[in-house]
Amino acid sequence: MAVATVDGESVAQDGLEKIRIVGGNALNGSIAVSGAKNAALPLMCVSLLTEQPITFTNMPLALRDIQNMGDLLAHLGVKITVEDGKATLHLQGGNIDNSVAPYDMVRKMRASILVLGPLLARTGKARVSLPGGCAIGTRPVDLHIAALEQMGAIIKIEDGYIVAEAPNGLQPAKILFPKVTVTGTENIMMAAALVEGETVLANAAMEPEVTDLAECLVKMGVEIDGIGTSRLVIRGKKQLQAATHAVIADRIETGTFMIAVALCGGEVRLQNARPDTLTALMSLLEKAGVKFTEDGSDIIVSKPKDVRLKGIDIMTEPYPAFPTDMQAQFMTMLTLCEGAGMVTETIFENRFMHVPELVRMGANISVQGNSAIVRGVDQLKGAPVMATDLRASVALVLAGLVAEGETFVHRIYHLDRGYEHVVEKLSGVGAQIERVR
Ligand code: UD1
Repeated sequence: MAVATVDGESVAQDGLEKIRIVGGNALNGSIAVSGAKNAALPLMCVSLLTEQPITFTNMPLALRDIQNMGDLLAHLGVKITVEDGKATLHLQGGNIDNSVAPYDMVRKMRASILVLGPLLARTGKARVSLPGGCAIGTRPVDLHIAALEQMGAIIKIEDGYIVAEAPNGLQPAKILFPKVTVTGTENIMMAAALVEGETVLANAAMEPEVTDLAECLVKMGVEIDGIGTSRLVIRGKKQLQAATHAVIADRIETGTFMIAVALCGGEVRLQNARPDTLTALMSLLEKAGVKFTEDGSDIIVSKPKDVRLKGIDIMTEPYPAFPTDMQAQFMTMLTLCEGAGMVTETIFENRFMHVPELVRMGANISVQGNSAIVRGVDQLKGAPVMATDLRASVALVLAGLVAEGETFVHRIYHLDRGYEHVVEKLSGVGAQIERVR
């Protein structure tokens, strides 16, 4: 896939680029929300299910993860055309002549596992590298494998690869996920899309990105009952049709900018958002003292600069509860709140990697198992900090926006995986932020 650019420059892969922030400015103006990375990645994989052309609008084309997924799909035989200025992507899986997702591609992005279900359903075989661990935990894919086995796949692990076969095609099945898994639900939904008969997914993930995928599959001719609930009934078709679909707004990007305003003060209009997907976060932010006004699909976020927010407890859980992908950003906000707040992480076992970096900036945080107590301090101080994963890196950017003095955020390639034009978007509302080498 053609390499897009981030903030007008080639994407920082060499680790030399960093972000420099001088904190203290209030934020005022408008930010256009991008399409959701976590919806776009599974959506792109539906191109493996049909020879027909699939078009996506509102695609966050500048994201490194989207480019990596494009490269993987192209490697498998999907033809890809990018309409850069229009955030539009055309995919056509006319001839899927390869069913191997190699280690070098999968290791760059765990979401590569999403090709497993559709490849197996379309070609009867798939060889996908095991994604391995990542900074936020071990993150196994056993639930994806077990569900495909229930659909009749024969699966072995060989030399670090998942080797799956379904010589006679996959069969409908009643699958109960023992744990809610987002990409697991998506993978099996895509596999079931080509299976005639009724596949039932119980305890399915209800994340809006899962719903977005289901809605796209329906446009392609799949019948799905229970969209948006934890019980999906899927009646697939042997042949699927062409479709055009707009990627849902990124709720995590939207929530991140809400917290930027909560921290810095000011008033920002977040355009083309989906407030209905942010209920848990918005009600907690309101309790802390942030104000919201909805105007169609725009959300106006405001907080006076000199008003201090109140500390509040959060616990991460599957949708519709508080998202783990907002935990690090919320913790940054709590570092400056009045009183204390407790953060409990129930989804990933190692998702407090931002804590030592925030402490280096003056935060008062103590971690006990999967909980962290954050006691509000009067001021964070700028410092050089290191990002360890996508959401942790943006949490450090947020801290830099409000800290006294200069903050340098290193290893920003994490940020480029999931935040489109973040430097431009934040400087556009008044933040003093730039990429430097
Ligand atoms: C997706 C999101 C990620 C988000 C996460 C939770 C994408 C591309 N990524 O990740 O941003 O943080 O949902 O909302 O959409 N698990 C197993 N076995 C499995 C699968 C999962 O034990 O086979 C466990 C995981 O280790 C974790 C929990 O289930 O503890 C939830 O993980 P899951 O929902 O699968 O996360 P992802 O889909 O990888």
